[in-house]
Amino acid sequence: MKTNIVLIGFMGVGKGRTARALAEKTGMFAVDCDDLIESFANSKVKKIFSNLGEPEFRALERRVSVWLQKQVKRTIISSGGGFFYVPNIRKIGTVVYLHSDFDMILDAIYAHPNAKKKIKKRPLLKDLGTARALLETRLPLYRDIADIEINVGGRSIDDIADDIIHQLSLKKRKNSH
Ligand code: S3P
Repeated sequence: MKTNIVLIGFMGVGKGRTARALAEKTGMFAVDCDDLIESFANSKVKKIFSNLGEPEFRALERRVSVWLQKQVKRTIISSGGGFFYVPNIRKIGTVVYLHSDFDMILDAIYAHPNAKKKIKKRPLLKDLGTARALLETRLPLYRDIADIEINVGGRSIDDIADDIIHQLSLKKRKNSH
């Protein structure tokens, strides 16, 4: 039985924040793939891209994916925007695609008080034209691999988390919001 939930979707859609809200509401733990990579490599994602290159980062994602499949249960997993390419993604857990269109994603990033930092730490957001094209390329692939899709544009994290709980019939823990 698939006990993990894997949140996939483009950079900036709120995968990490949604995972933490889901953890709080359900009592499950949440882990983030980029955090796992950073602690494993003892280096920030941005540095891994600039020092070792994107192919090495993708190899680290695959390594993390194997570990998650073998070792992790009953956990909400937030992933990087390209993590869904790992070959075992559907074996790790139920895959939930968080969708928003590119302009709404940009609005949400720029509305954030730490917008500059958020953009700086994401090498693939440096060029907005390329980033927009990347979302267009990935969109059908996200949709193809996911068990369910949640439209997150313009919605609060709380509302999104409740929607996922409802659609996956997850149990809320007592006293959660
Ligand atoms: C990436 C998304 C990033 C991070 C890396 C590559 C991508 O994660 O994994 O910069 O390929 O879309 P977020 O989606 O959390 O920004």
